[in-house]
Amino acid sequence: MQYRRLGRTGLQVSELSYGAARGAAQNPSQFIDTVHACLDAGINLIDTAGGYDLGESERVLGQALVGHDDVIVETKYCPYDSYRADATYVGTPDALVAAAEESLRRLRRDRLDIFLGHGLRTLETLDRFMTDGCYAAMCRLREQGKVRFIGISELSEGDGTHQILQRAVPGGAFDVVMLTINLMLQTAVESVLPLCAQHDVGTVVMMALNQSSGVSGLTSLEAARELIRRYIGTGQLPDAPPYTEAGLLDFLQPYPIPEAAIRYVLAQPVSTCCVGVRSQERLAQNLRALAPPYLDAQRQERLKELFGGIVRQTF
Ligand SMILES: NC(=O)c1ccc[n+]([C@@H]2O[C@H](COP(=O)([O-])OP(=O)(O)OC[C@H]3O[C@@H](n4cnc5c(N)ncnc54)[C@H](OP(=O)(O)O)[C@@H]3O)[C@@H](O)[C@H]2O)c1
Repeated sequence: MQYRRLGRTGLQVSELSYGAARGAAQNPSQFIDTVHACLDAGINLIDTAGGYDLGESERVLGQALVGHDDVIVETKYCPYDSYRADATYVGTPDALVAAAEESLRRLRRDRLDIFLGHGLRTLETLDRFMTDGCYAAMCRLREQGKVRFIGISELSEGDGTHQILQRAVPGGAFDVVMLTINLMLQTAVESVLPLCAQHDVGTVVMMALNQSSGVSGLTSLEAARELIRRYIGTGQLPDAPPYTEAGLLDFLQPYPIPEAAIRYVLAQPVSTCCVGVRSQERLAQNLRALAPPYLDAQRQERLKELFGGIVRQTF
């Protein structure tokens, strides 16, 4: 495992990090085994949120991390009434502080390493978050030593403008951002990463496998073909060759699609690529991507030619 600097936090974080959004409630013992396998592999950053599995992600993670105080845990407060893109903003400083206290309790920690505003999705609500006392409350938690570093995540189904991060990062308020980058939605590589480098903000990448579901996503060749069909269906890719050809992604061989997807992210100047897995077998597959230089310039160039025009995640 190689480690990269997480921006101005100065933390050295594993280039592959673990997304703990799924599995804790469904199969706690398998979740704990997977977390321990991550630690054995050298992963030292785990992302969770108070809202994942109604708190079970944090609770079971806290159980798994007993005796592993050195692991960097990132968690989040969602200032909306749901995770939907059209959710209503309901953030308040009191709720934010109460959420942080709950996260500390569930995670069995006396300090949150990284605390993010979860899924900030419009400029208007970002401005509210910054001025209604929520941001000030985050800063107070940091002053009190209950939180080490603060940041925000964008909505995972980002629109490709990354307007939230374009505004928030240069503002200098945040140490870390969580953002969407994958070999389909590449926009942040040029529009956000240079800003983060300039302002020394740590970058935790989510959605490396796109919006993966049972049938679509960068999880297998078949699922990737379905993803491309969906991009064609939404008019983001032409309904014409080479997009309609079965061999479109052959140039990524010998890498399987998920490995190529993680390699693509790690070839960018990001701090860490955060991927969720629910089994040690999946983890072992993803660890194969951790081989610098990850993805050669030719394959990267071809991915840019083919998919660089995409501006939205698809479902
Ligand atoms: N706005 C936000 O703040 C936000 C939004 C979304 C996600 N996140 C965070 O980012 C983390 C990472 O997100 P993510 O995009 O990785 O989503 P995720 O919700 O963790 O899901 C990743 C999916 O990819 C599958 N997968 C992983 N490795 C694979 C492989 N080698 N082959 C086939 N399938 C594979 C997993 O399957 P199995 O589960 O079946 O193993 C899972 O379905 C999340 O866990 C969460 O912590 C944050």
